Amino acid sequence: MTNTYSEEIKLIAKPGEIPYAKGLEGIPIGESTKSFVDGLGGRLVYHGHSIEELCEKSSYEEVFYLLLYDRLPKESELKDLGRLMRSYREIPSELYDLIAKQAPRYGVHPMSVMRTAVSALAAYDETTEDDTPSEQCRQSIRIVSKIATIAAAIARARLGKPMLSPRAELSHAGNFYYMLTGSAPDDFYAELMDVLLILHADHECNASTFAAVTVRSTLSDLYSAVVAGICALKGPLHGGANEEVMRMLQAIGSLDNVERFLEDAMSQKLRIHGFGHRVYKIMDPRADILRRQAREVTRRAGTEHWLETAERIEKVMAEKYGQRGIWPNVDFFSGVVMASMGIESPMFTPIFAVGRSAGWTAHALEQWVDNRIFRPRFIYIGPEEEPYTPIRERK
Ligand SMILES: CC(C)(COP(=O)(O)OP(=O)(O)OC[C@H]1O[C@@H](n2cnc3c(N)ncnc32)[C@H](O)[C@@H]1OP(=O)(O)O)[C@@H](O)C(=O)NCCC(=O)NCCS
Repeated sequence: MTNTYSEEIKLIAKPGEIPYAKGLEGIPIGESTKSFVDGLGGRLVYHGHSIEELCEKSSYEEVFYLLLYDRLPKESELKDLGRLMRSYREIPSELYDLIAKQAPRYGVHPMSVMRTAVSALAAYDETTEDDTPSEQCRQSIRIVSKIATIAAAIARARLGKPMLSPRAELSHAGNFYYMLTGSAPDDFYAELMDVLLILHADHECNASTFAAVTVRSTLSDLYSAVVAGICALKGPLHGGANEEVMRMLQAIGSLDNVERFLEDAMSQKLRIHGFGHRVYKIMDPRADILRRQAREVTRRAGTEHWLETAERIEKVMAEKYGQRGIWPNVDFFSGVVMASMGIESPMFTPIFAVGRSAGWTAHALEQWVDNRIFRPRFIYIGPEEEPYTPIRERK
């Protein structure tokens, strides 16, 4: 791979003098077999399998296997993974205590608690510094398994409810739903949680995956990479957008207000949360799947008004801004779905992280195999050389 700028170019310049790709737009940072985002075709593929087919026929465990090992598992392999994941679900009691103390504090975002909890979790894994590929795979399985328990414990602690121990007879998604809500899911809710986790499992080189692989490229451990992923996902331009969407729906209130709200926001150059994407220039396929899921779950929950408002926003945005490539992304309908499942909106992004932990660890492992530290450049536009003025003489 050649450098973006030839060796001869000195990266000291006047502002705007040397072109560069702000936000690394369109810059490939490596090769990957994990997932492919077709931004113009509106397709998402995990290692050759369309997201639509995986949501319909697969399970989160199977998708996790696919991402980690680059193939669909045989029956016995899927059973073994499921068994291993179940055996790893519990978290140390000190972590429950930490979550119980931090999560209910006013103003502490659950993603901050999750970040701290996953970081603390590393201290209980004696293999953290073990770099053998098989041990890294087991670390990945432990992280993916335990992060669901962490997220559920945070959700319960925020509401002052007792944290629940995992139930071994339930699938990863079913058990996660149970630990979050306190009720074992029926088939509909178990499948819905599975679809949510599958849809969030991976998305090529997004900001949080980039953060995770950058940390891993220094040969820091997998837990550190996942913590970096959580930190990046928290922002409202990335995973935090789903929470903002619900805030927007509540602010809009009724269908009659949609058009005015959007016009006001767009004229002030504000962002419409859940819209726009760096890669997709048409509808994000995950949004399409979630919209279909939203029909049934809003009917069951009696929250059809959220879906109606969301679809009105979608219609107005498509008519006015569709040609500019601003279409719904994954976060637009996921908020409606999760809120209709009875989940409070600050927990939406941690649930995203539970799904994405598969992608973070799979990519971190993949890049590590042929590792090179990420070390791009800034173009220096500051003064080249200035005399040092003693402190008392400075104006
Ligand atoms: C996702 C996002 C960060 C991508 O950013 P990006 O690739 O850097 O895109 P840009 O910020 O360069 O936007 C390009 C143009 O589209 C507009 N645009 C992009 N997303 C928009 C949105 N959600 N609402 C209003 N305008 C938007 C920008 O204002 C810009 O217009 P301009 O060319 O007239 O200045 C951006 O679309 C966004 O902020 N979306 C809302 C947050 C969100 O839903 N994030 C979840 C992503 S999965």
